[in-house]
Amino acid sequence: MDKLVSSWYKDQSLPESYIFPPHERPGKLLVPRCNTVPVIDLGDTRTNLVHQILKASQEFGLFQVVNHGVPPNIMSETMSVFHKFFELPAEDKASLTVHTNDPKRCKLVTSTLDYDREKIHLWRDVLRHPCHPDCIEFWPQKPLRYREVVAACSIEAKKLGLQILELLCEGVGIEHGYFEHELTEDLLLGANHYPPCPDPSLTLGIPKHFDPDILTILLQEHISGLQVLKDGEWIGVKPIPNAFVVNIGYILQVISNNKLKGAEHRVVTNSSDHRISVVFCMNPAGDSNIEPAKSVVTATNPPLCRGFQFKEFMDNFYSMDGDADLALQPFKL
Ligand code: OGA
Ligand code: NI
Repeated sequence: MDKLVSSWYKDQSLPESYIFPPHERPGKLLVPRCNTVPVIDLGDTRTNLVHQILKASQEFGLFQVVNHGVPPNIMSETMSVFHKFFELPAEDKASLTVHTNDPKRCKLVTSTLDYDREKIHLWRDVLRHPCHPDCIEFWPQKPLRYREVVAACSIEAKKLGLQILELLCEGVGIEHGYFEHELTEDLLLGANHYPPCPDPSLTLGIPKHFDPDILTILLQEHISGLQVLKDGEWIGVKPIPNAFVVNIGYILQVISNNKLKGAEHRVVTNSSDHRISVVFCMNPAGDSNIEPAKSVVTATNPPLCRGFQFKEFMDNFYSMDGDADLALQPFKL
C-alpha cells in the first residue's frame, strides 16, 4: 500500500502520476456555475413527493433531500468522528491499511484498491467497510465513539434509503417492498478524505463514474467538490446544511429498465480545504438476481438485459476498471 495522500501532500508539488489527461481534467471551472440540482423536502405530501423524486431521478439521477427526519446531531457527530479519524496519527491507522481479501474487514487505502495497477492516482484516501452488525467488531476503535456514532448513522441512512426507494417504486410502478430485503442487504460505508491539492485543475478526487449499487446516500459538509453530469455539462452539487445527497445507482437503472437514470458524477479537488464525504451504498447481496422488474417490462419497453447475479456484474465492473456500461455488456439483450 502506498502512503496516504494526507501524509505527504504538504511536502511536495503535484506528482506526475496524479495528472489526468486533458479531456478528463476539471480545468478552470472549479466553481459550480449554477445550482439546478433538485432539492426535495421530504415533509411534502406523498403525492407530490412521488412526482418530484421521480422527475429528479429521470432528469438528473441525483438530488438532495431535506427535512428527512435524520437527527442533525447524528449527522454532525458522524462528520466529526471522520474528521478525528483522518487526523489520527499513522500508527493508529496502520492496522487498517494492511491488505486483506476478507470482505468483512475495514480497508483504508489511498486512491483505489487498485493503486499498484492504475495509471493515474486519485487525490483521496478512503476508508471502506460493511455496515452489517456482524462486521462492527472490525470497525476502527479510534476515535472512541466511532462505532456508536457510525452505527447510528448507518441505521438512519438505510431507513432513509428504503423510504426513497418506496417512493420511487410507486413512481415507476414497481411493487411495494421490492427492494426491502436481498436487494439492499449489504450497506457499505465509504468515507472519502480529499486533502488540499496543489493544482486542482489537473487532478480529480474521483473521475466520472456511476455508483455500481442500488442507491447511494451521501453526507457532505460545506466544502464543494461533487459534480453531476447533466446534458454533457458538469454541475456542482451545492452543499446544503443537514441535507443528504441521493444518487440513483447503476443497478437501480437496470432494474427500472432505464426508467430511472443512474447519475454520472465526479469529485474535483480544491487548494485550500480538506473535504470529507461519507457515502452509504445500498448494495444487493452478492448472489441476488438482478433483472428489469417484471412490472416495468412491456411489449413497447422490452427488457434491456437478461438476469444476472450481482457478484457477476461486480466482477466485470472491477475488471473493466469501474466502467458500469462495459460491465453490463455481456448481459445485454
Ligand atoms: C463515491 C462518490 C462523492 C463525494 O464515493 O462514489 O461519488 O462527494 N463520492 O465524495
Ligand atoms: Ni460515486
